[in-house]
Amino acid sequence: MGERKILVKKEKKAYVKDLEREFVLSGFEKHYVETTKDYHTKYGVIKRKDLLRKPGSKLRVGNHEFIILDPVFLDHYKRIRRLAQIITLKDIGAIIANTGLTKDSVVLDAGSGSGALACFLGVLAKKVVTYDINEKSVKITCENVEALGLKNVFVKQGNIYEYKQVKEKNIDVFVLDVPEPWKAIRTAQKVLKIGGFLVVYLPNLNQVQRFVKALPEEFLLEKTVEVVEREWLVDEKRIRPKTKDHAHTGFLTFVRKLREEDKNRGVNKKKLG
Ligand SMILES: C[S@@+](CC[C@H](N)C(=O)[O-])C[C@H]1O[C@@H](n2cnc3c(N)ncnc32)[C@H](O)[C@@H]1O
Repeated sequence: MGERKILVKKEKKAYVKDLEREFVLSGFEKHYVETTKDYHTKYGVIKRKDLLRKPGSKLRVGNHEFIILDPVFLDHYKRIRRLAQIITLKDIGAIIANTGLTKDSVVLDAGSGSGALACFLGVLAKKVVTYDINEKSVKITCENVEALGLKNVFVKQGNIYEYKQVKEKNIDVFVLDVPEPWKAIRTAQKVLKIGGFLVVYLPNLNQVQRFVKALPEEFLLEKTVEVVEREWLVDEKRIRPKTKDHAHTGFLTFVRKLREEDKNRGVNKKKLG
């Protein structure tokens, strides 16, 4: 990803006594900057040698002040290439917390999409294997994995509904962000270790219900949750939610494998559609 720095400029405000109001003169800014050349801002140029100063250094450009920081994983992650919908940070947090994912966990993920979830889990887990049926998704995911320098994230093209195509075994956490996860239950039976977690991410409750109805007895349905994050505006004058409406992302359903599949009975074939 090359050498990068973060430049932060704090919000500038002024209180006008006569109007009894505070005005924002210039907003908060965060720049993700390459250090191989000078950086041009709308306030003027920052020289390359200044970008190389130590974290916490202040740089003046005209009347404006920037502070230099070294980027952390999250700064790089926020710059990854994106195809359509990527999983949100609030939902990633819930997946990690509710599966107790650690540095020893081996994770299977499908579909990769842009690889957002796979990459985030990749910095925490021992190993992540991610599948997508779509060639373009596989390509973008590979690019993102490489850009983030992740050596433990492996990208495969394949159909997660076809359990014979999926060779992984002894998986601790299996995350499904695909349109018809009930078709991947057979795959979950095959790949998960006993006690391993299956997490299903779905936008609609009717899909969640269909998935739950298709679950065979070898699985324990722990819970379905929706994570609602509400950002607040807090300053000297105001304390209120930042936005009126909360965008819905999806429902997370957490399931645990209790034992191996009952071979005599097979999967609930009737229920899988
Ligand atoms: C919403 S995206 C996943 C986003 C991803 N979780 C992320 O954070 O970037 C859904 C992906 O599932 C893939 N997909 C759909 N059906 C699939 C299947 N049967 N097997 C594997 N991938 C599939 C699609 O190609 C698409 O890229």
